[in-house]
Amino acid sequence: MSASEQASGRLPRTSSYEADIAAVHRVLLLYSGGLDTSVMLKWIQDSYDAEVICLTVNLGQPGEDYELIRAKALRLGALDCHVVDAREEFAGEFIARAIKANALYGSGYPLFTALGRPLIAKLAVEQARASGCDTIAHGCTGKGNDQVRIEATVATLAPELGVIAPVRSWQMGREEEIAYAREHGIPVKGGTEGVPYSIDDNLWGRSSEGRWIEDLAHAPEDDVFALLTRPEQAPDAAEEVRVAFERGMPVALNGERMPLVALLERAAELGARHGVGIVDHIEDRIVGLKVRDIYEAPAAAIILPAHQELERLVCTIHENQFKPQLDRQWAYLIYAGLWWEPLRGDLDAYMDEVNERVTGEIGIKLYKGHARVITRSSPNALYDAELASFAQSGGLFSQAASPGFIELFSLQSRMAWRLRNR
Ligand code: ARG
Repeated sequence: MSASEQASGRLPRTSSYEADIAAVHRVLLLYSGGLDTSVMLKWIQDSYDAEVICLTVNLGQPGEDYELIRAKALRLGALDCHVVDAREEFAGEFIARAIKANALYGSGYPLFTALGRPLIAKLAVEQARASGCDTIAHGCTGKGNDQVRIEATVATLAPELGVIAPVRSWQMGREEEIAYAREHGIPVKGGTEGVPYSIDDNLWGRSSEGRWIEDLAHAPEDDVFALLTRPEQAPDAAEEVRVAFERGMPVALNGERMPLVALLERAAELGARHGVGIVDHIEDRIVGLKVRDIYEAPAAAIILPAHQELERLVCTIHENQFKPQLDRQWAYLIYAGLWWEPLRGDLDAYMDEVNERVTGEIGIKLYKGHARVITRSSPNALYDAELASFAQSGGLFSQAASPGFIELFSLQSRMAWRLRNR
């Protein structure tokens, strides 16, 4: 490491796609308007002597004022700040595939952040190319999965672009960052006393990390829930919601058809009101660490169980045994940042094929933190109420055939038992 590298806290390059300092002239910065990326915006201009263009992506994170973010970027010296509303693409191309794959990582995390990153990084590549940038900068730390997702995407789609991750390479702690911000006229919102939660959110959910969450023995404090009503305070009256699906996609709530983004927003509202979708999760990160996250995912907590229930109803026992294995593999790939890996497309082909039949309606009851399936209907259900009833025999099913079936079906198990218990 040269003296100047050391001074600026830059580490030597360890990969092919990391930007060479001398080659950084115009940087596309993924900008959220928060402290880290605002400090980055100044810091890149100063320490690389480079121009910065910002990109802010709207994936449906609630309560964001994009005009304010844009104005802040321009005030901090950005040549330009593009705000892209990517909600439809996010819902239609990313969340939709996750629904078809019943996507949960570690049996609980609906992958909202993991689904958002490849889209954000793809948009960064497009904007970088359109505005003549040589480098993409993001605000991820070196301890999380998001760096993997963003950098794998950029390195895959645009090998000609370099990547810098100043928060990962500078050695500023939070105090120093705040001091740097003060010194450079960067507004620090919400005071500096308490360390805030680390938040990421979009249409499909919200995550909180840091503070007491890192203490595994510490039960969730109320102030972490920003999206959901706490179950204890949810309405005393249960509410039912009917979710209609066509070919695997949710298309209507309570009989009212709406576009996917609106539907997800509406489902999130309903779930949030009833405190549905809290996940207190210990997670195996790709970079080796185990970390605890508190998730609020009210839309996913309604849509995913409804989809899975309908899928099971229209699929055979063999498909129902098989698909969860592929679902798990799909979720792992997305979690691991390999959205652009061919296996994901291969798996999607299977998901699409199975979901051709996933049409019908599922009723869910929402009550104080729980979402429970209560009704089902589908023209494709492999279900015959006559056959299933205890009284009837005939048609496709003969009760007289059952003893013969049992004799053959249990044959090997019986032989093994006899052998081992001689
Ligand atoms: N643990 C989750 C994941 O890896 C959530 C990460 C949230 N990201 C963040 N920068 N706060 O997908």
